Amino acid sequence: MNAQPERRLAMAAAVGLGCVLLVLFVSAAIRLGAEVFTASEMKILRGVHRSAASLEVLAMVAAAWLAWRMRANQPVIALAAALTVALSVLGILAGQQPPPLAAYGNLTLGLALAASFAWLLGRTSDSKANRVAHLAAALVVVQVLLGAWIALYSETLWSWALVAHALLGLALAAGAMWLAARIERAAARFALAGLALAVPAAGFASALFDLPLGATLAHAAAAALFVSAAAYGHARIA
Ligand code: HEM
Repeated sequence: MNAQPERRLAMAAAVGLGCVLLVLFVSAAIRLGAEVFTASEMKILRGVHRSAASLEVLAMVAAAWLAWRMRANQPVIALAAALTVALSVLGILAGQQPPPLAAYGNLTLGLALAASFAWLLGRTSDSKANRVAHLAAALVVVQVLLGAWIALYSETLWSWALVAHALLGLALAAGAMWLAARIERAAARFALAGLALAVPAAGFASALFDLPLGATLAHAAAAALFVSAAAYGHARIA
């Protein structure tokens, strides 16, 4: 395959991933900080949200065009395009005060879109099927569905869902640590190990101190990065 369009596709996927992570972070800040931020701060957050979401659409179109020309990675591009359309429609229909189901859809589909771009970035032609990587990906999906349920539906913080989420989170973080210890490149090794520590640390700080804004926002951001790292790793291994 020609290296130039491949590099451009990676660039479009990286821009798309960056935009989705920014949208996810700002969405969490808007949702969690409704009582903390002033009206003008909220306006800025909404402006950043809108700009990053629009840039993501451009990155998506560029990635789709490049992948179509290269005849490569078409299923994951089709998935990312479908998620982009679904998120845009949901955003237009649900407005600024989305009901819980729309917020749940927004969060989980947004994380799936970040994972699609990260997967696209990590994909290489010599990847092989790997059952452990598929199982780990399935567990990350369960973890995200549980986390989003706790954040948007759970009436009491300490519930069976939080205990399951905390235990599965610790197991996933331990798995990520194990993987990090085997990565040769020091920067990638430390980045993954740092994430594997940050996600549960922020999660426990959030749960134990009754959801303070800083810890809860840090957990949402670190979780989105963890999901993206898991998708990238899955594409490299499986
Ligand atoms: C790999 C590990 C983990 C992942 C991928 C993960 C993922 C998530 C996600 C996606 C959310 C929804 C975030 C949002 O509101 O935008 C969430 C919420 C939450 N998680 Fe985790 N989590 C992990 C580990 C943990 C651990 C170990 C704890 C410790 C108790 C924890 C506690 C929480 C709490 C309390 C919430 C609700 C926060 C809120 O109300 O917004 N998480 N998690």
